[in-house]
Amino acid sequence: MIRDLTDAEARRAMPCKWGQVDADVIPAWVAEMDYALAPPIAEALADAVAHNVVGYPDFSPGGGLLGEAYAGFAQRHFGQHVDPTWVVPTVDVTAGVRVAINALSADAPVVMTLPGYPPVMNIVEACGRKRLDLVLDADAERAEIDLDQLDHLLDPARGGARTLILTNPHNPWGRVFTRAELEGIRDVVTRHGARVVADEIHAPLVLPGTDPATAPVHTPYLTLDGAADHAVAVVSASKAFNTPGLRCAQIVAGDDATRDRLRSLAAGVNESWSVLGSIAATAAYTDGDEWLAALRTRLGEQRDLLADLLARHLPEARMRPLEATYLAWLDLRAYGEDDPAAAVLERGRVRLASGEMYQPGLTGHVRLNIATSPQRLTAIVERMAAALAS
Ligand SMILES: Cc1ncc(COP(=O)(O)O)c(C=O)c1O
Repeated sequence: MIRDLTDAEARRAMPCKWGQVDADVIPAWVAEMDYALAPPIAEALADAVAHNVVGYPDFSPGGGLLGEAYAGFAQRHFGQHVDPTWVVPTVDVTAGVRVAINALSADAPVVMTLPGYPPVMNIVEACGRKRLDLVLDADAERAEIDLDQLDHLLDPARGGARTLILTNPHNPWGRVFTRAELEGIRDVVTRHGARVVADEIHAPLVLPGTDPATAPVHTPYLTLDGAADHAVAVVSASKAFNTPGLRCAQIVAGDDATRDRLRSLAAGVNESWSVLGSIAATAAYTDGDEWLAALRTRLGEQRDLLADLLARHLPEARMRPLEATYLAWLDLRAYGEDDPAAAVLERGRVRLASGEMYQPGLTGHVRLNIATSPQRLTAIVERMAAALAS
């Protein structure tokens, strides 16, 4: 069910990931997948184009078909009740975070967990807020949010932040935070009367665990007791279904009051989503379950293959357990390169994402995108090993 694109197909399909590298380079950087579109989405888009559905989307308030589709998806996948009218479209997740901060958060610093997704890091400052970084210790055994640090950053007498951007599942930590961890975060947030913007774009991409009994499960922040009045989630089908160019994400409110504030924004603040994006997201949320299940199986296999390849070719590499996403976070400090991504590009002709982008000043780390064929993943690791050995 998951069809690998050929190099020629991928180069045409992805002008960013594949188009920005030389022909002899294997791209494993930006978060796009080298797979063909899920058939229900391709069919919905073809039908829309055949019927000239390329105008403005329906801007009138109301969850509409997209709201109902997301509510169904959230119920089936996360056991979450979402009122369809609480689903407010936005152009993409980065913009949704911006809209949520500007519309809902006090004019005060914003906490972000680093290493983090670079455009969202930048958005905080674009909102005119100071960013306070909650930094993961690169040597920590498990990637966890340090509640004492969070408490410090949200304390009015110290950091003074009023908002936490909570990325869950986390890119690039690879973590799916447990309900207990999220409750701990919620307790600190509510103690300081702060808000949460939960970036849950990777929620559909929780990977199979070795033991189903202990496999990670995504817990939407909004399902925690007491979260509805201080949080929104920003979600999208675009990461799991590989449609980032279609421009439609969703801000999910937890109550009517938050929905009404989001709907009452002045014209021009949040109307950039596209009608084709909305159609694709509706199809994904409604008819995409079977394809998504096959995708998660494939990505789980790719993750396990990566672990084998690293053990064989790069035994000193340290990979954080990849509970979700298709973006592996690798500590390559043992190989002595400050910027291993640059060395691997120059000597191995593989484009990785440099860890420095996710945490300024961090050396020796890379992010590797495993959403490709087993053959390409094998070649990527072999080339990395040759480059780092030379
Ligand atoms: C955690 C996280 N947030 C946001 C985004 C960006 O989403 P969008 O393209 O919808 O802005 C990504 C993209 O990979 C991401 O990993």
